Amino acid sequence: MLQKVAVVGAGNVGATAAQRLAEKNLARTVVLIDVIEGVPQGKALDQYQSGPIEGFDTRVVGTNGYDEASGAELFVVTAGIARKPGMSRDDLVKTNAGIVKSVGEQIKRVAPNAIVVVVSNPLDVMCYVAMRATGFPRERVFGMAGVLDTARYRMFLAEAIGVSVEDIQAMVLGGHGDTMVPLPSYTTVSGIPVTQLISPAKLDAIVDRARNGGAEIVSFLKTGSAYYAPSAAAVQMVEAIALDKKRILPCSAWLTGEFGLRDVFCGVPVKLGRAGLEQIVEIKLSEGEHAALAASADAVRSTMTTLEF
Ligand code: NAI
Ligand code: 2OP
Repeated sequence: MLQKVAVVGAGNVGATAAQRLAEKNLARTVVLIDVIEGVPQGKALDQYQSGPIEGFDTRVVGTNGYDEASGAELFVVTAGIARKPGMSRDDLVKTNAGIVKSVGEQIKRVAPNAIVVVVSNPLDVMCYVAMRATGFPRERVFGMAGVLDTARYRMFLAEAIGVSVEDIQAMVLGGHGDTMVPLPSYTTVSGIPVTQLISPAKLDAIVDRARNGGAEIVSFLKTGSAYYAPSAAAVQMVEAIALDKKRILPCSAWLTGEFGLRDVFCGVPVKLGRAGLEQIVEIKLSEGEHAALAASADAVRSTMTTLEF
């Protein structure tokens, strides 16, 4: 268990993540931070009062500043605006870069040794902004997207094949966007290659639906984007770190030559433990998968060039 985890942004993803962190007893204190006066305080108090029912002792505190988060071991950054219908994740870049930069500077000030899990979109580019603003090494700044994209892919597959989702092992790499890279070659059902259980056409349709999984939900909600699965995905990463589990999860990481890619954040298999990003696992990719990963990294780079620092 960690002593203190802070969640920045008390909106849909942030507030749900805070509740999940408390319910899983992953920290003694969860600090919920937002710029809107009263909202983090009200949501935190409400969540704290669910402790006697849900059986957690975690103190949940809401605030508009960072003093309460001083010395936190981990921050989950969800601050920013979310997608509306017709918007891509990249449409959020200008507004969210300014927000994530200011958040990163505050984190550096109050918790210079913290680990930062970025959630704000466009995810891979916001990881870069957070890394620049905090000045932290790549071991302590990385992003959540692959866990969510993989969850969507696994769920659609389990439904199509008619098996428990628990038995689907899979990984989606690449940037969090239309160019994400599901890996059918690493997808198994209890060790059975997925290609033995589903036709190529059905698999392609599932890959496509996973790629558009975020947009599908935006088109239903109309006023915002997904948050139940995203918050669960971020908390799974926090759990791997808090409990030093050494889990291998797809995370957006700063690459310095791995997979032939350099100076870009992109989703790759990462070992997560108490030190944060403990290893990037360089799995073998086919030529086609490698080309898709490189194209996805290029898409992230092209959004990075629109940043103004
Ligand atoms: P939301 O609009 O419900 O919440 C965002 C919150 O951030 C708001 O409460 C807002 O007041 C707050 N905020 C704005 N500026 C702030 C600042 N400077 N400091 C602290 N808080 C600030 O949005 P939601 O649905 O919670 O999404 C949050 C972000 O996460 C969005 O950018 C969204 O696109 C992204 N997202 C990323 C996913 C991923 O897979 N990486 C999945 C789902 C959402
Ligand atoms: C999602 O994939 C909006 O990035 C968010 O649901």
